Amino acid sequence: MNYKDYIEIVNDFPSEGIVFKDITPLMANGEAYRAAVHDIAEYAKEKHADVIVGPEARGFVVGCPVAYSLGVGFVPVRKEGKLPREVVKVSYGKEYGKDVLTLHKDAIQPGQKVIITDDLLATGGTIKATIELVEKLGGIVVGLAFMIELTQLKGREKLDNYDIFTLMQYYD
Ligand code: PRP
Ligand code: MG
Repeated sequence: MNYKDYIEIVNDFPSEGIVFKDITPLMANGEAYRAAVHDIAEYAKEKHADVIVGPEARGFVVGCPVAYSLGVGFVPVRKEGKLPREVVKVSYGKEYGKDVLTLHKDAIQPGQKVIITDDLLATGGTIKATIELVEKLGGIVVGLAFMIELTQLKGREKLDNYDIFTLMQYYD
């Protein structure tokens, strides 16, 4: 499956100079979405994931079906003010802007093996913050899985202690 056939490239979105990779056509194609989820689920299975964690919003699109197909739980990481109970939080910078991510304090048990999923690895800010949250709770991050990696933004360099799986890489 050539996943790139299902990605639309949009220039100057959401702001000037950003070349946006739109995954919605991939999601809208049953065969492509299923294959993408399957490939990431196989990776998570090899890593013996106990739980899948994904940052809102697009991390849910990847992580929820992966968790469902493996029969493990899905734990959401959300922007500040969205989770109703006690949380751990961390602030982070991303490709465009700054934000705060949170995770319910009781969502991960110490020693649990965690796979973190998201649609895209750009600067790595989002995923680094998500890793921090999981590790604050004693979770062990056994791998990171993305549909897309934008290699120019060097997210991988921020994450050199972690195993990374990606379905597609873009070099410019
Ligand atoms: C996008 C994307 C990744 C992140 C990648 O999310 O879905 O989560 O940016 O960038 P980074 O590697 O530089 O952190 P965004 O925060 O735009 O929000 P969304 O998923 O809610 O659309
Ligand atoms: Mg996101």
